[in-house]
Amino acid sequence: MTQVKSVVLARRPQGNPVAEDFQVNVSELPPLREGELLCRNHFVSLDAGFRNWMNEGSGDAVLPAMELGAPVIGLVLGEVIASLNPLYAEGDMLMARFAWQTHSISDGNDFIARLPTTLEFDPAAYMGVLGDTGMSAYFGMTDILKPTAKDCVLISGAGGAVGSIAGQLAKTGARVVGLVGSEEKGQWICDVLGYDAAVVRTGADSLSEAISKVCPEGVDAFFDNVGGATLEAAIANMNHRGRMALCGAVSGYGVPAHGPNNLFEIVTKEIRAEGFMTHFRHDRYEEAREALSEGLRSGALASPEYRLKGIDQIGQAYADLFAGRNFGKTVVEL
Ligand SMILES: NC(=O)c1ccc[n+]([C@@H]2O[C@H](COP(=O)([O-])OP(=O)(O)OC[C@H]3O[C@@H](n4cnc5c(N)ncnc54)[C@H](OP(=O)(O)O)[C@@H]3O)[C@@H](O)[C@H]2O)c1
Repeated sequence: MTQVKSVVLARRPQGNPVAEDFQVNVSELPPLREGELLCRNHFVSLDAGFRNWMNEGSGDAVLPAMELGAPVIGLVLGEVIASLNPLYAEGDMLMARFAWQTHSISDGNDFIARLPTTLEFDPAAYMGVLGDTGMSAYFGMTDILKPTAKDCVLISGAGGAVGSIAGQLAKTGARVVGLVGSEEKGQWICDVLGYDAAVVRTGADSLSEAISKVCPEGVDAFFDNVGGATLEAAIANMNHRGRMALCGAVSGYGVPAHGPNNLFEIVTKEIRAEGFMTHFRHDRYEEAREALSEGLRSGALASPEYRLKGIDQIGQAYADLFAGRNFGKTVVEL
């Protein structure tokens, strides 16, 4: 009998998750039924957005609230090792919304994106730069912000999974500024990712003042991963007819969100703000993956990752993500 290791929600996180909110359980793999596929997972992607469904009663149109004691839902990369589903064959590589487990059984109705059977890049890249987070950077930049050489582009969560790719994609002649949680990460985004400057959100100045010192001509395009007070400070610094791509609001996941309290400035400055969800652009994954792959091939794109090993490290990796200890995409290799 094959054993499955699962990371379950041991208790509901209070505010930012900590490692003790999660626990590894071991169980026997049940036999495969008609219509099901069995996937051996090689990598787990740690994604801030899934925190939204860890609170009691937090279910919505995207996902039901996660249950206590049940495997935590997330994105994984794996290989089909047995299939009784005609659409999937042994050897198929998948990125799927399964759970934090060594093995997943699916009836094929989960969110599944098929990957090439032979992967050109390190598998972890298909969770990051070529996965949901890299594609979020791609869609936000190419579909919404469309930065030009005249722009000052500001990106929040600039050294994270989405931000690390968004910053590099914005370098089309624009001045690119990143918001980060520490001086060390600020230095890193400039040295490694090519950002022109960093705003450290934990400094003595208010966030709005800190942005205005680094962006004295104002901000033309804002890519937001953080929301709340960060979005408020960015709106205060936006130029007339600026654009904002709203990708996420990590500062308000699982905790009461602050503001923004200056939305009327969107009217007075004629700002265009557009939210987006990458999974609704499923039909364009190949286009996005190919454009990002070209950047990896040519060396134009770096794909930084914060990688831990072993299923017992998943809880810690998830806590690290919210504490800002990740530089780049957070993944756990199983
Ligand atoms: N729209 C979509 O389809 C889509 C898809 C994927 C992800 N997303 C969104 O993209 C964002 C980034 O997600 P990710 O999984 O890639 O995480 P990430 O950016 O790799 O990590 C989150 C980062 O946010 C910063 N942060 C955490 N708490 C914060 C707070 N209270 N205030 C300000 N900054 C804080 C931390 O960096 P510092 O400490 O350095 O600031 C941390 O490293 C999330 O909002 C997520 O929901 C959206």
